[in-house]
Amino acid sequence: MTLPLSSSIIPSKDSTAKAIKQLGGAGLGFRRELLAEMGKADLSDIDFFEISPENWLNSNGQMGGQYHKQLRSFTEQHPFVCHGLSLSIGSTAPLDTALLKNIKAFMQTHDIGLYTEHLSWCSDTSGHLYDLLPIPCTEEAVYWVADRIKQAQDILGQQIGFENASYYFSPPTNGVSCDMSDAEFISAVANEADCLLHLDVNNIYVNSQNFGFDAHDYLRQLPLERTCYLHVAGHHTEEDGLIVDTHGASVIDPVWALLSDAYALIKQKTGRPASALPTCLERDFNFPSMDDLIDEVSYIRQLQLQSHTSDKPYKSQTGSAQKATLTNPSLSGYQTNDSQLANQGLQTKDGQHDLI
Ligand SMILES: [Fe+2]
Repeated sequence: MTLPLSSSIIPSKDSTAKAIKQLGGAGLGFRRELLAEMGKADLSDIDFFEISPENWLNSNGQMGGQYHKQLRSFTEQHPFVCHGLSLSIGSTAPLDTALLKNIKAFMQTHDIGLYTEHLSWCSDTSGHLYDLLPIPCTEEAVYWVADRIKQAQDILGQQIGFENASYYFSPPTNGVSCDMSDAEFISAVANEADCLLHLDVNNIYVNSQNFGFDAHDYLRQLPLERTCYLHVAGHHTEEDGLIVDTHGASVIDPVWALLSDAYALIKQKTGRPASALPTCLERDFNFPSMDDLIDEVSYIRQLQLQSHTSDKPYKSQTGSAQKATLTNPSLSGYQTNDSQLANQGLQTKDGQHDLI
């Protein structure tokens, strides 16, 4: 069944493109747990911060009190990006328009120009889950999700970036065969909704290891010309080899290699240099010192600068994706390999080029 599309107005591309041009560089996830350290640290090596509005709004969608003042002191001094957690764009429940209006107000209050979310779902009419679940890769789902993205973009009055998610199972399709690959689904939704791509290279790596495909080949199948924003993160490898996207460890070399490849491919496709591609280090728990976090953010910028002198994307060889390494002498002894991760224990689960 093909669902009717909404009569969507075209959201403002100018405001989103302007926001992205004002960003660029390397950023860090803004966590309440880091507030005290960030208040004392030299943050000049962090080009922007990413914030999840749901973590700062109360159940009425408002914010106030001490945390509001602390946050305001940061948003007045640093660029920020909004990265939502609970929009559940793939859900069959009604679109949460109240949440979107609260997010719009939050972005206006804090002068934030870019908003991204996950291409997944996490709720139905009975409630919310903490997990982000994959959307069946069917034609019906493309139209369903794209229609909801258009509605969301209309409410915000701007384009939204949607993130390729990590997942741990293939979603049931109620007997309908999957019409397309995961990468084809992402491209189809982006084209139909005219939204942007939030590219998470760690999620690609995690999925490639858990489901046995070549991460670099997969990267080439995504609509990279629509990239507005990137994520890089660490993960956890369980004893049986399953990789869990925890954001609780340092980034490993194959993921850095994938990020470098993404920079080269996007530059090839769009002419946009890596430094114009805002890239955020996600770290949600098991925090190292602020100095170590800043070193890891600085390494993103180092890769961006390196990519300006090298236009060659990574050459994929069958089965070699996980062996791809990037020499990282500055972080020698600092990065965590998979065996170290396994021992840590899992606590919780010149930007002049226009975007499409
Ligand atoms: Fe991410």
